[in-house]
Amino acid sequence: MKHSSTFINGKCFFIFLCGILFLTKLSFSIGELEVACRDVERKALDKFKRGLADPSGRLSSWVGDDCCRWEGVSCNNRTGHVVELNLRSPSSNSLDGDGTAQTLSGKIDPSLIVLKDLNYLDLSKIDFGGSQIPSFIGSLQSLRYLNLSGASFGGTIPPSLGNLSRLVYLDLNKVDQFELTKSSLYWLSGLSSLKYLHLRGWDLSMSATDWLQTVNRLPTLLELHLPFCQLSNLPLTLPSLNFTSLMVLDLSNNGFNSTIPNWLFNLKSLVHLDLNSNNLYGPLPDKIAYLGSLQKLDLSLNTIEGQLSKNLGKLCNLRSLELSQNRITGEITNVLDSLS
Ligand SMILES: *[C@@H]1O[C@H](CO)[C@@H](O)[C@H](O)[C@H]1NC(C)=O
Ligand SMILES: *[C@@H]1O[C@H](CO)[C@@H](O)[C@H](O)[C@H]1NC(C)=O
Ligand SMILES: *[C@@H]1O[C@H](CO)[C@@H](O)[C@H](O)[C@H]1NC(C)=O
Ligand SMILES: *[C@@H]1O[C@H](CO)[C@@H](O)[C@H](O)[C@H]1NC(C)=O
Ligand SMILES: *[C@@H]1O[C@H](CO)[C@@H](O)[C@H](O)[C@H]1NC(C)=O
Repeated sequence: MKHSSTFINGKCFFIFLCGILFLTKLSFSIGELEVACRDVERKALDKFKRGLADPSGRLSSWVGDDCCRWEGVSCNNRTGHVVELNLRSPSSNSLDGDGTAQTLSGKIDPSLIVLKDLNYLDLSKIDFGGSQIPSFIGSLQSLRYLNLSGASFGGTIPPSLGNLSRLVYLDLNKVDQFELTKSSLYWLSGLSSLKYLHLRGWDLSMSATDWLQTVNRLPTLLELHLPFCQLSNLPLTLPSLNFTSLMVLDLSNNGFNSTIPNWLFNLKSLVHLDLNSNNLYGPLPDKIAYLGSLQKLDLSLNTIEGQLSKNLGKLCNLRSLELSQNRITGEITNVLDSLS
């Protein structure tokens, strides 16, 4: 009796297993059939394309029904939804002559808002002519990667970006001279997954007094680039330091005019630290020895005074050290002797 019920159970289990295998195979073939692009998303991309001037034909593959085959567009191979839009310019090759032929320019059509599954958007180096970053980008809720580096935007950073709670990379590196109005940073606290933040060149003076507290609410941050942001205020104390995983910190060219704050030396994972051109004064604290992972340290163009801390010699991973244009006195060679 016992024996036969085990047998029946075994048989049922076998049939059950076959059923699962069959259904899995069936759904795979349905998936493969469905992989073509969604009509509504193709129309949106087409409208977006029409908003751009494309003198060198970079979007010439954007024809036909299956937008998943268009260059720079990737779809989820089971749902057919567009998940990536990567229009990063191929690196300009000086042999090609004037390089400008590669550049797309124009505006971002709001039709992109239908791309609900878009998780990767790279429009870096497209020339948007000093216009405002459209605030509808904050509605692309699936975004994990947003790169508008060198994309010639002006105005302010739209606070709606703070709705992108899944964002891991945010690169708004501004290299042009288009006119800016003051931006604030309060919206950042919505980006709780952020690992990489680059806001070079934006005028963040509206957050001069609270930028550090805001950044301190991003415990997963690994890279923070805020050079040329007119932050002007570097708080000397911070009740508790949250972003201790930070590996890269660039706060250069912000005109802090203060001493080097103590909390900085608790960022023990730092590999790159750049504080150049900030009018930082006072001696280099002995606590510099805490930053044992540092490979690159730039303190040039400040007013750092006196003898160099001997502890600089304990930074045994250091490969690049910039101290020029300070008021350092005394011998430097004996401090640096131990740095192979
Ligand atoms: C679907 O995409 C996944 C992840 O990108 C990949 O590993 C897989 O091979 C793809 N399947 C097909 C049938 O293309
Ligand atoms: C953004 O794009 C630029 C090239 O246009 C690239 O240099 C940069 O590394 C990208 N940023 C990130 C976070 O990948
Ligand atoms: C997005 O952010 C803006 C400004 O912060 C806010 O007014 C709006 O309600 C947010 N939308 C969603 C869908 O969260
Ligand atoms: C540290 O980060 C957590 C998570 O974002 C936050 O709840 C907490 O308030 C932060 N602490 C400080 C001092 O900002
Ligand atoms: C820097 O701060 C000192 C006082 O702490 C002040 O006298 C000086 O004017 C400031 N310099 C700049 C450029 O703001």
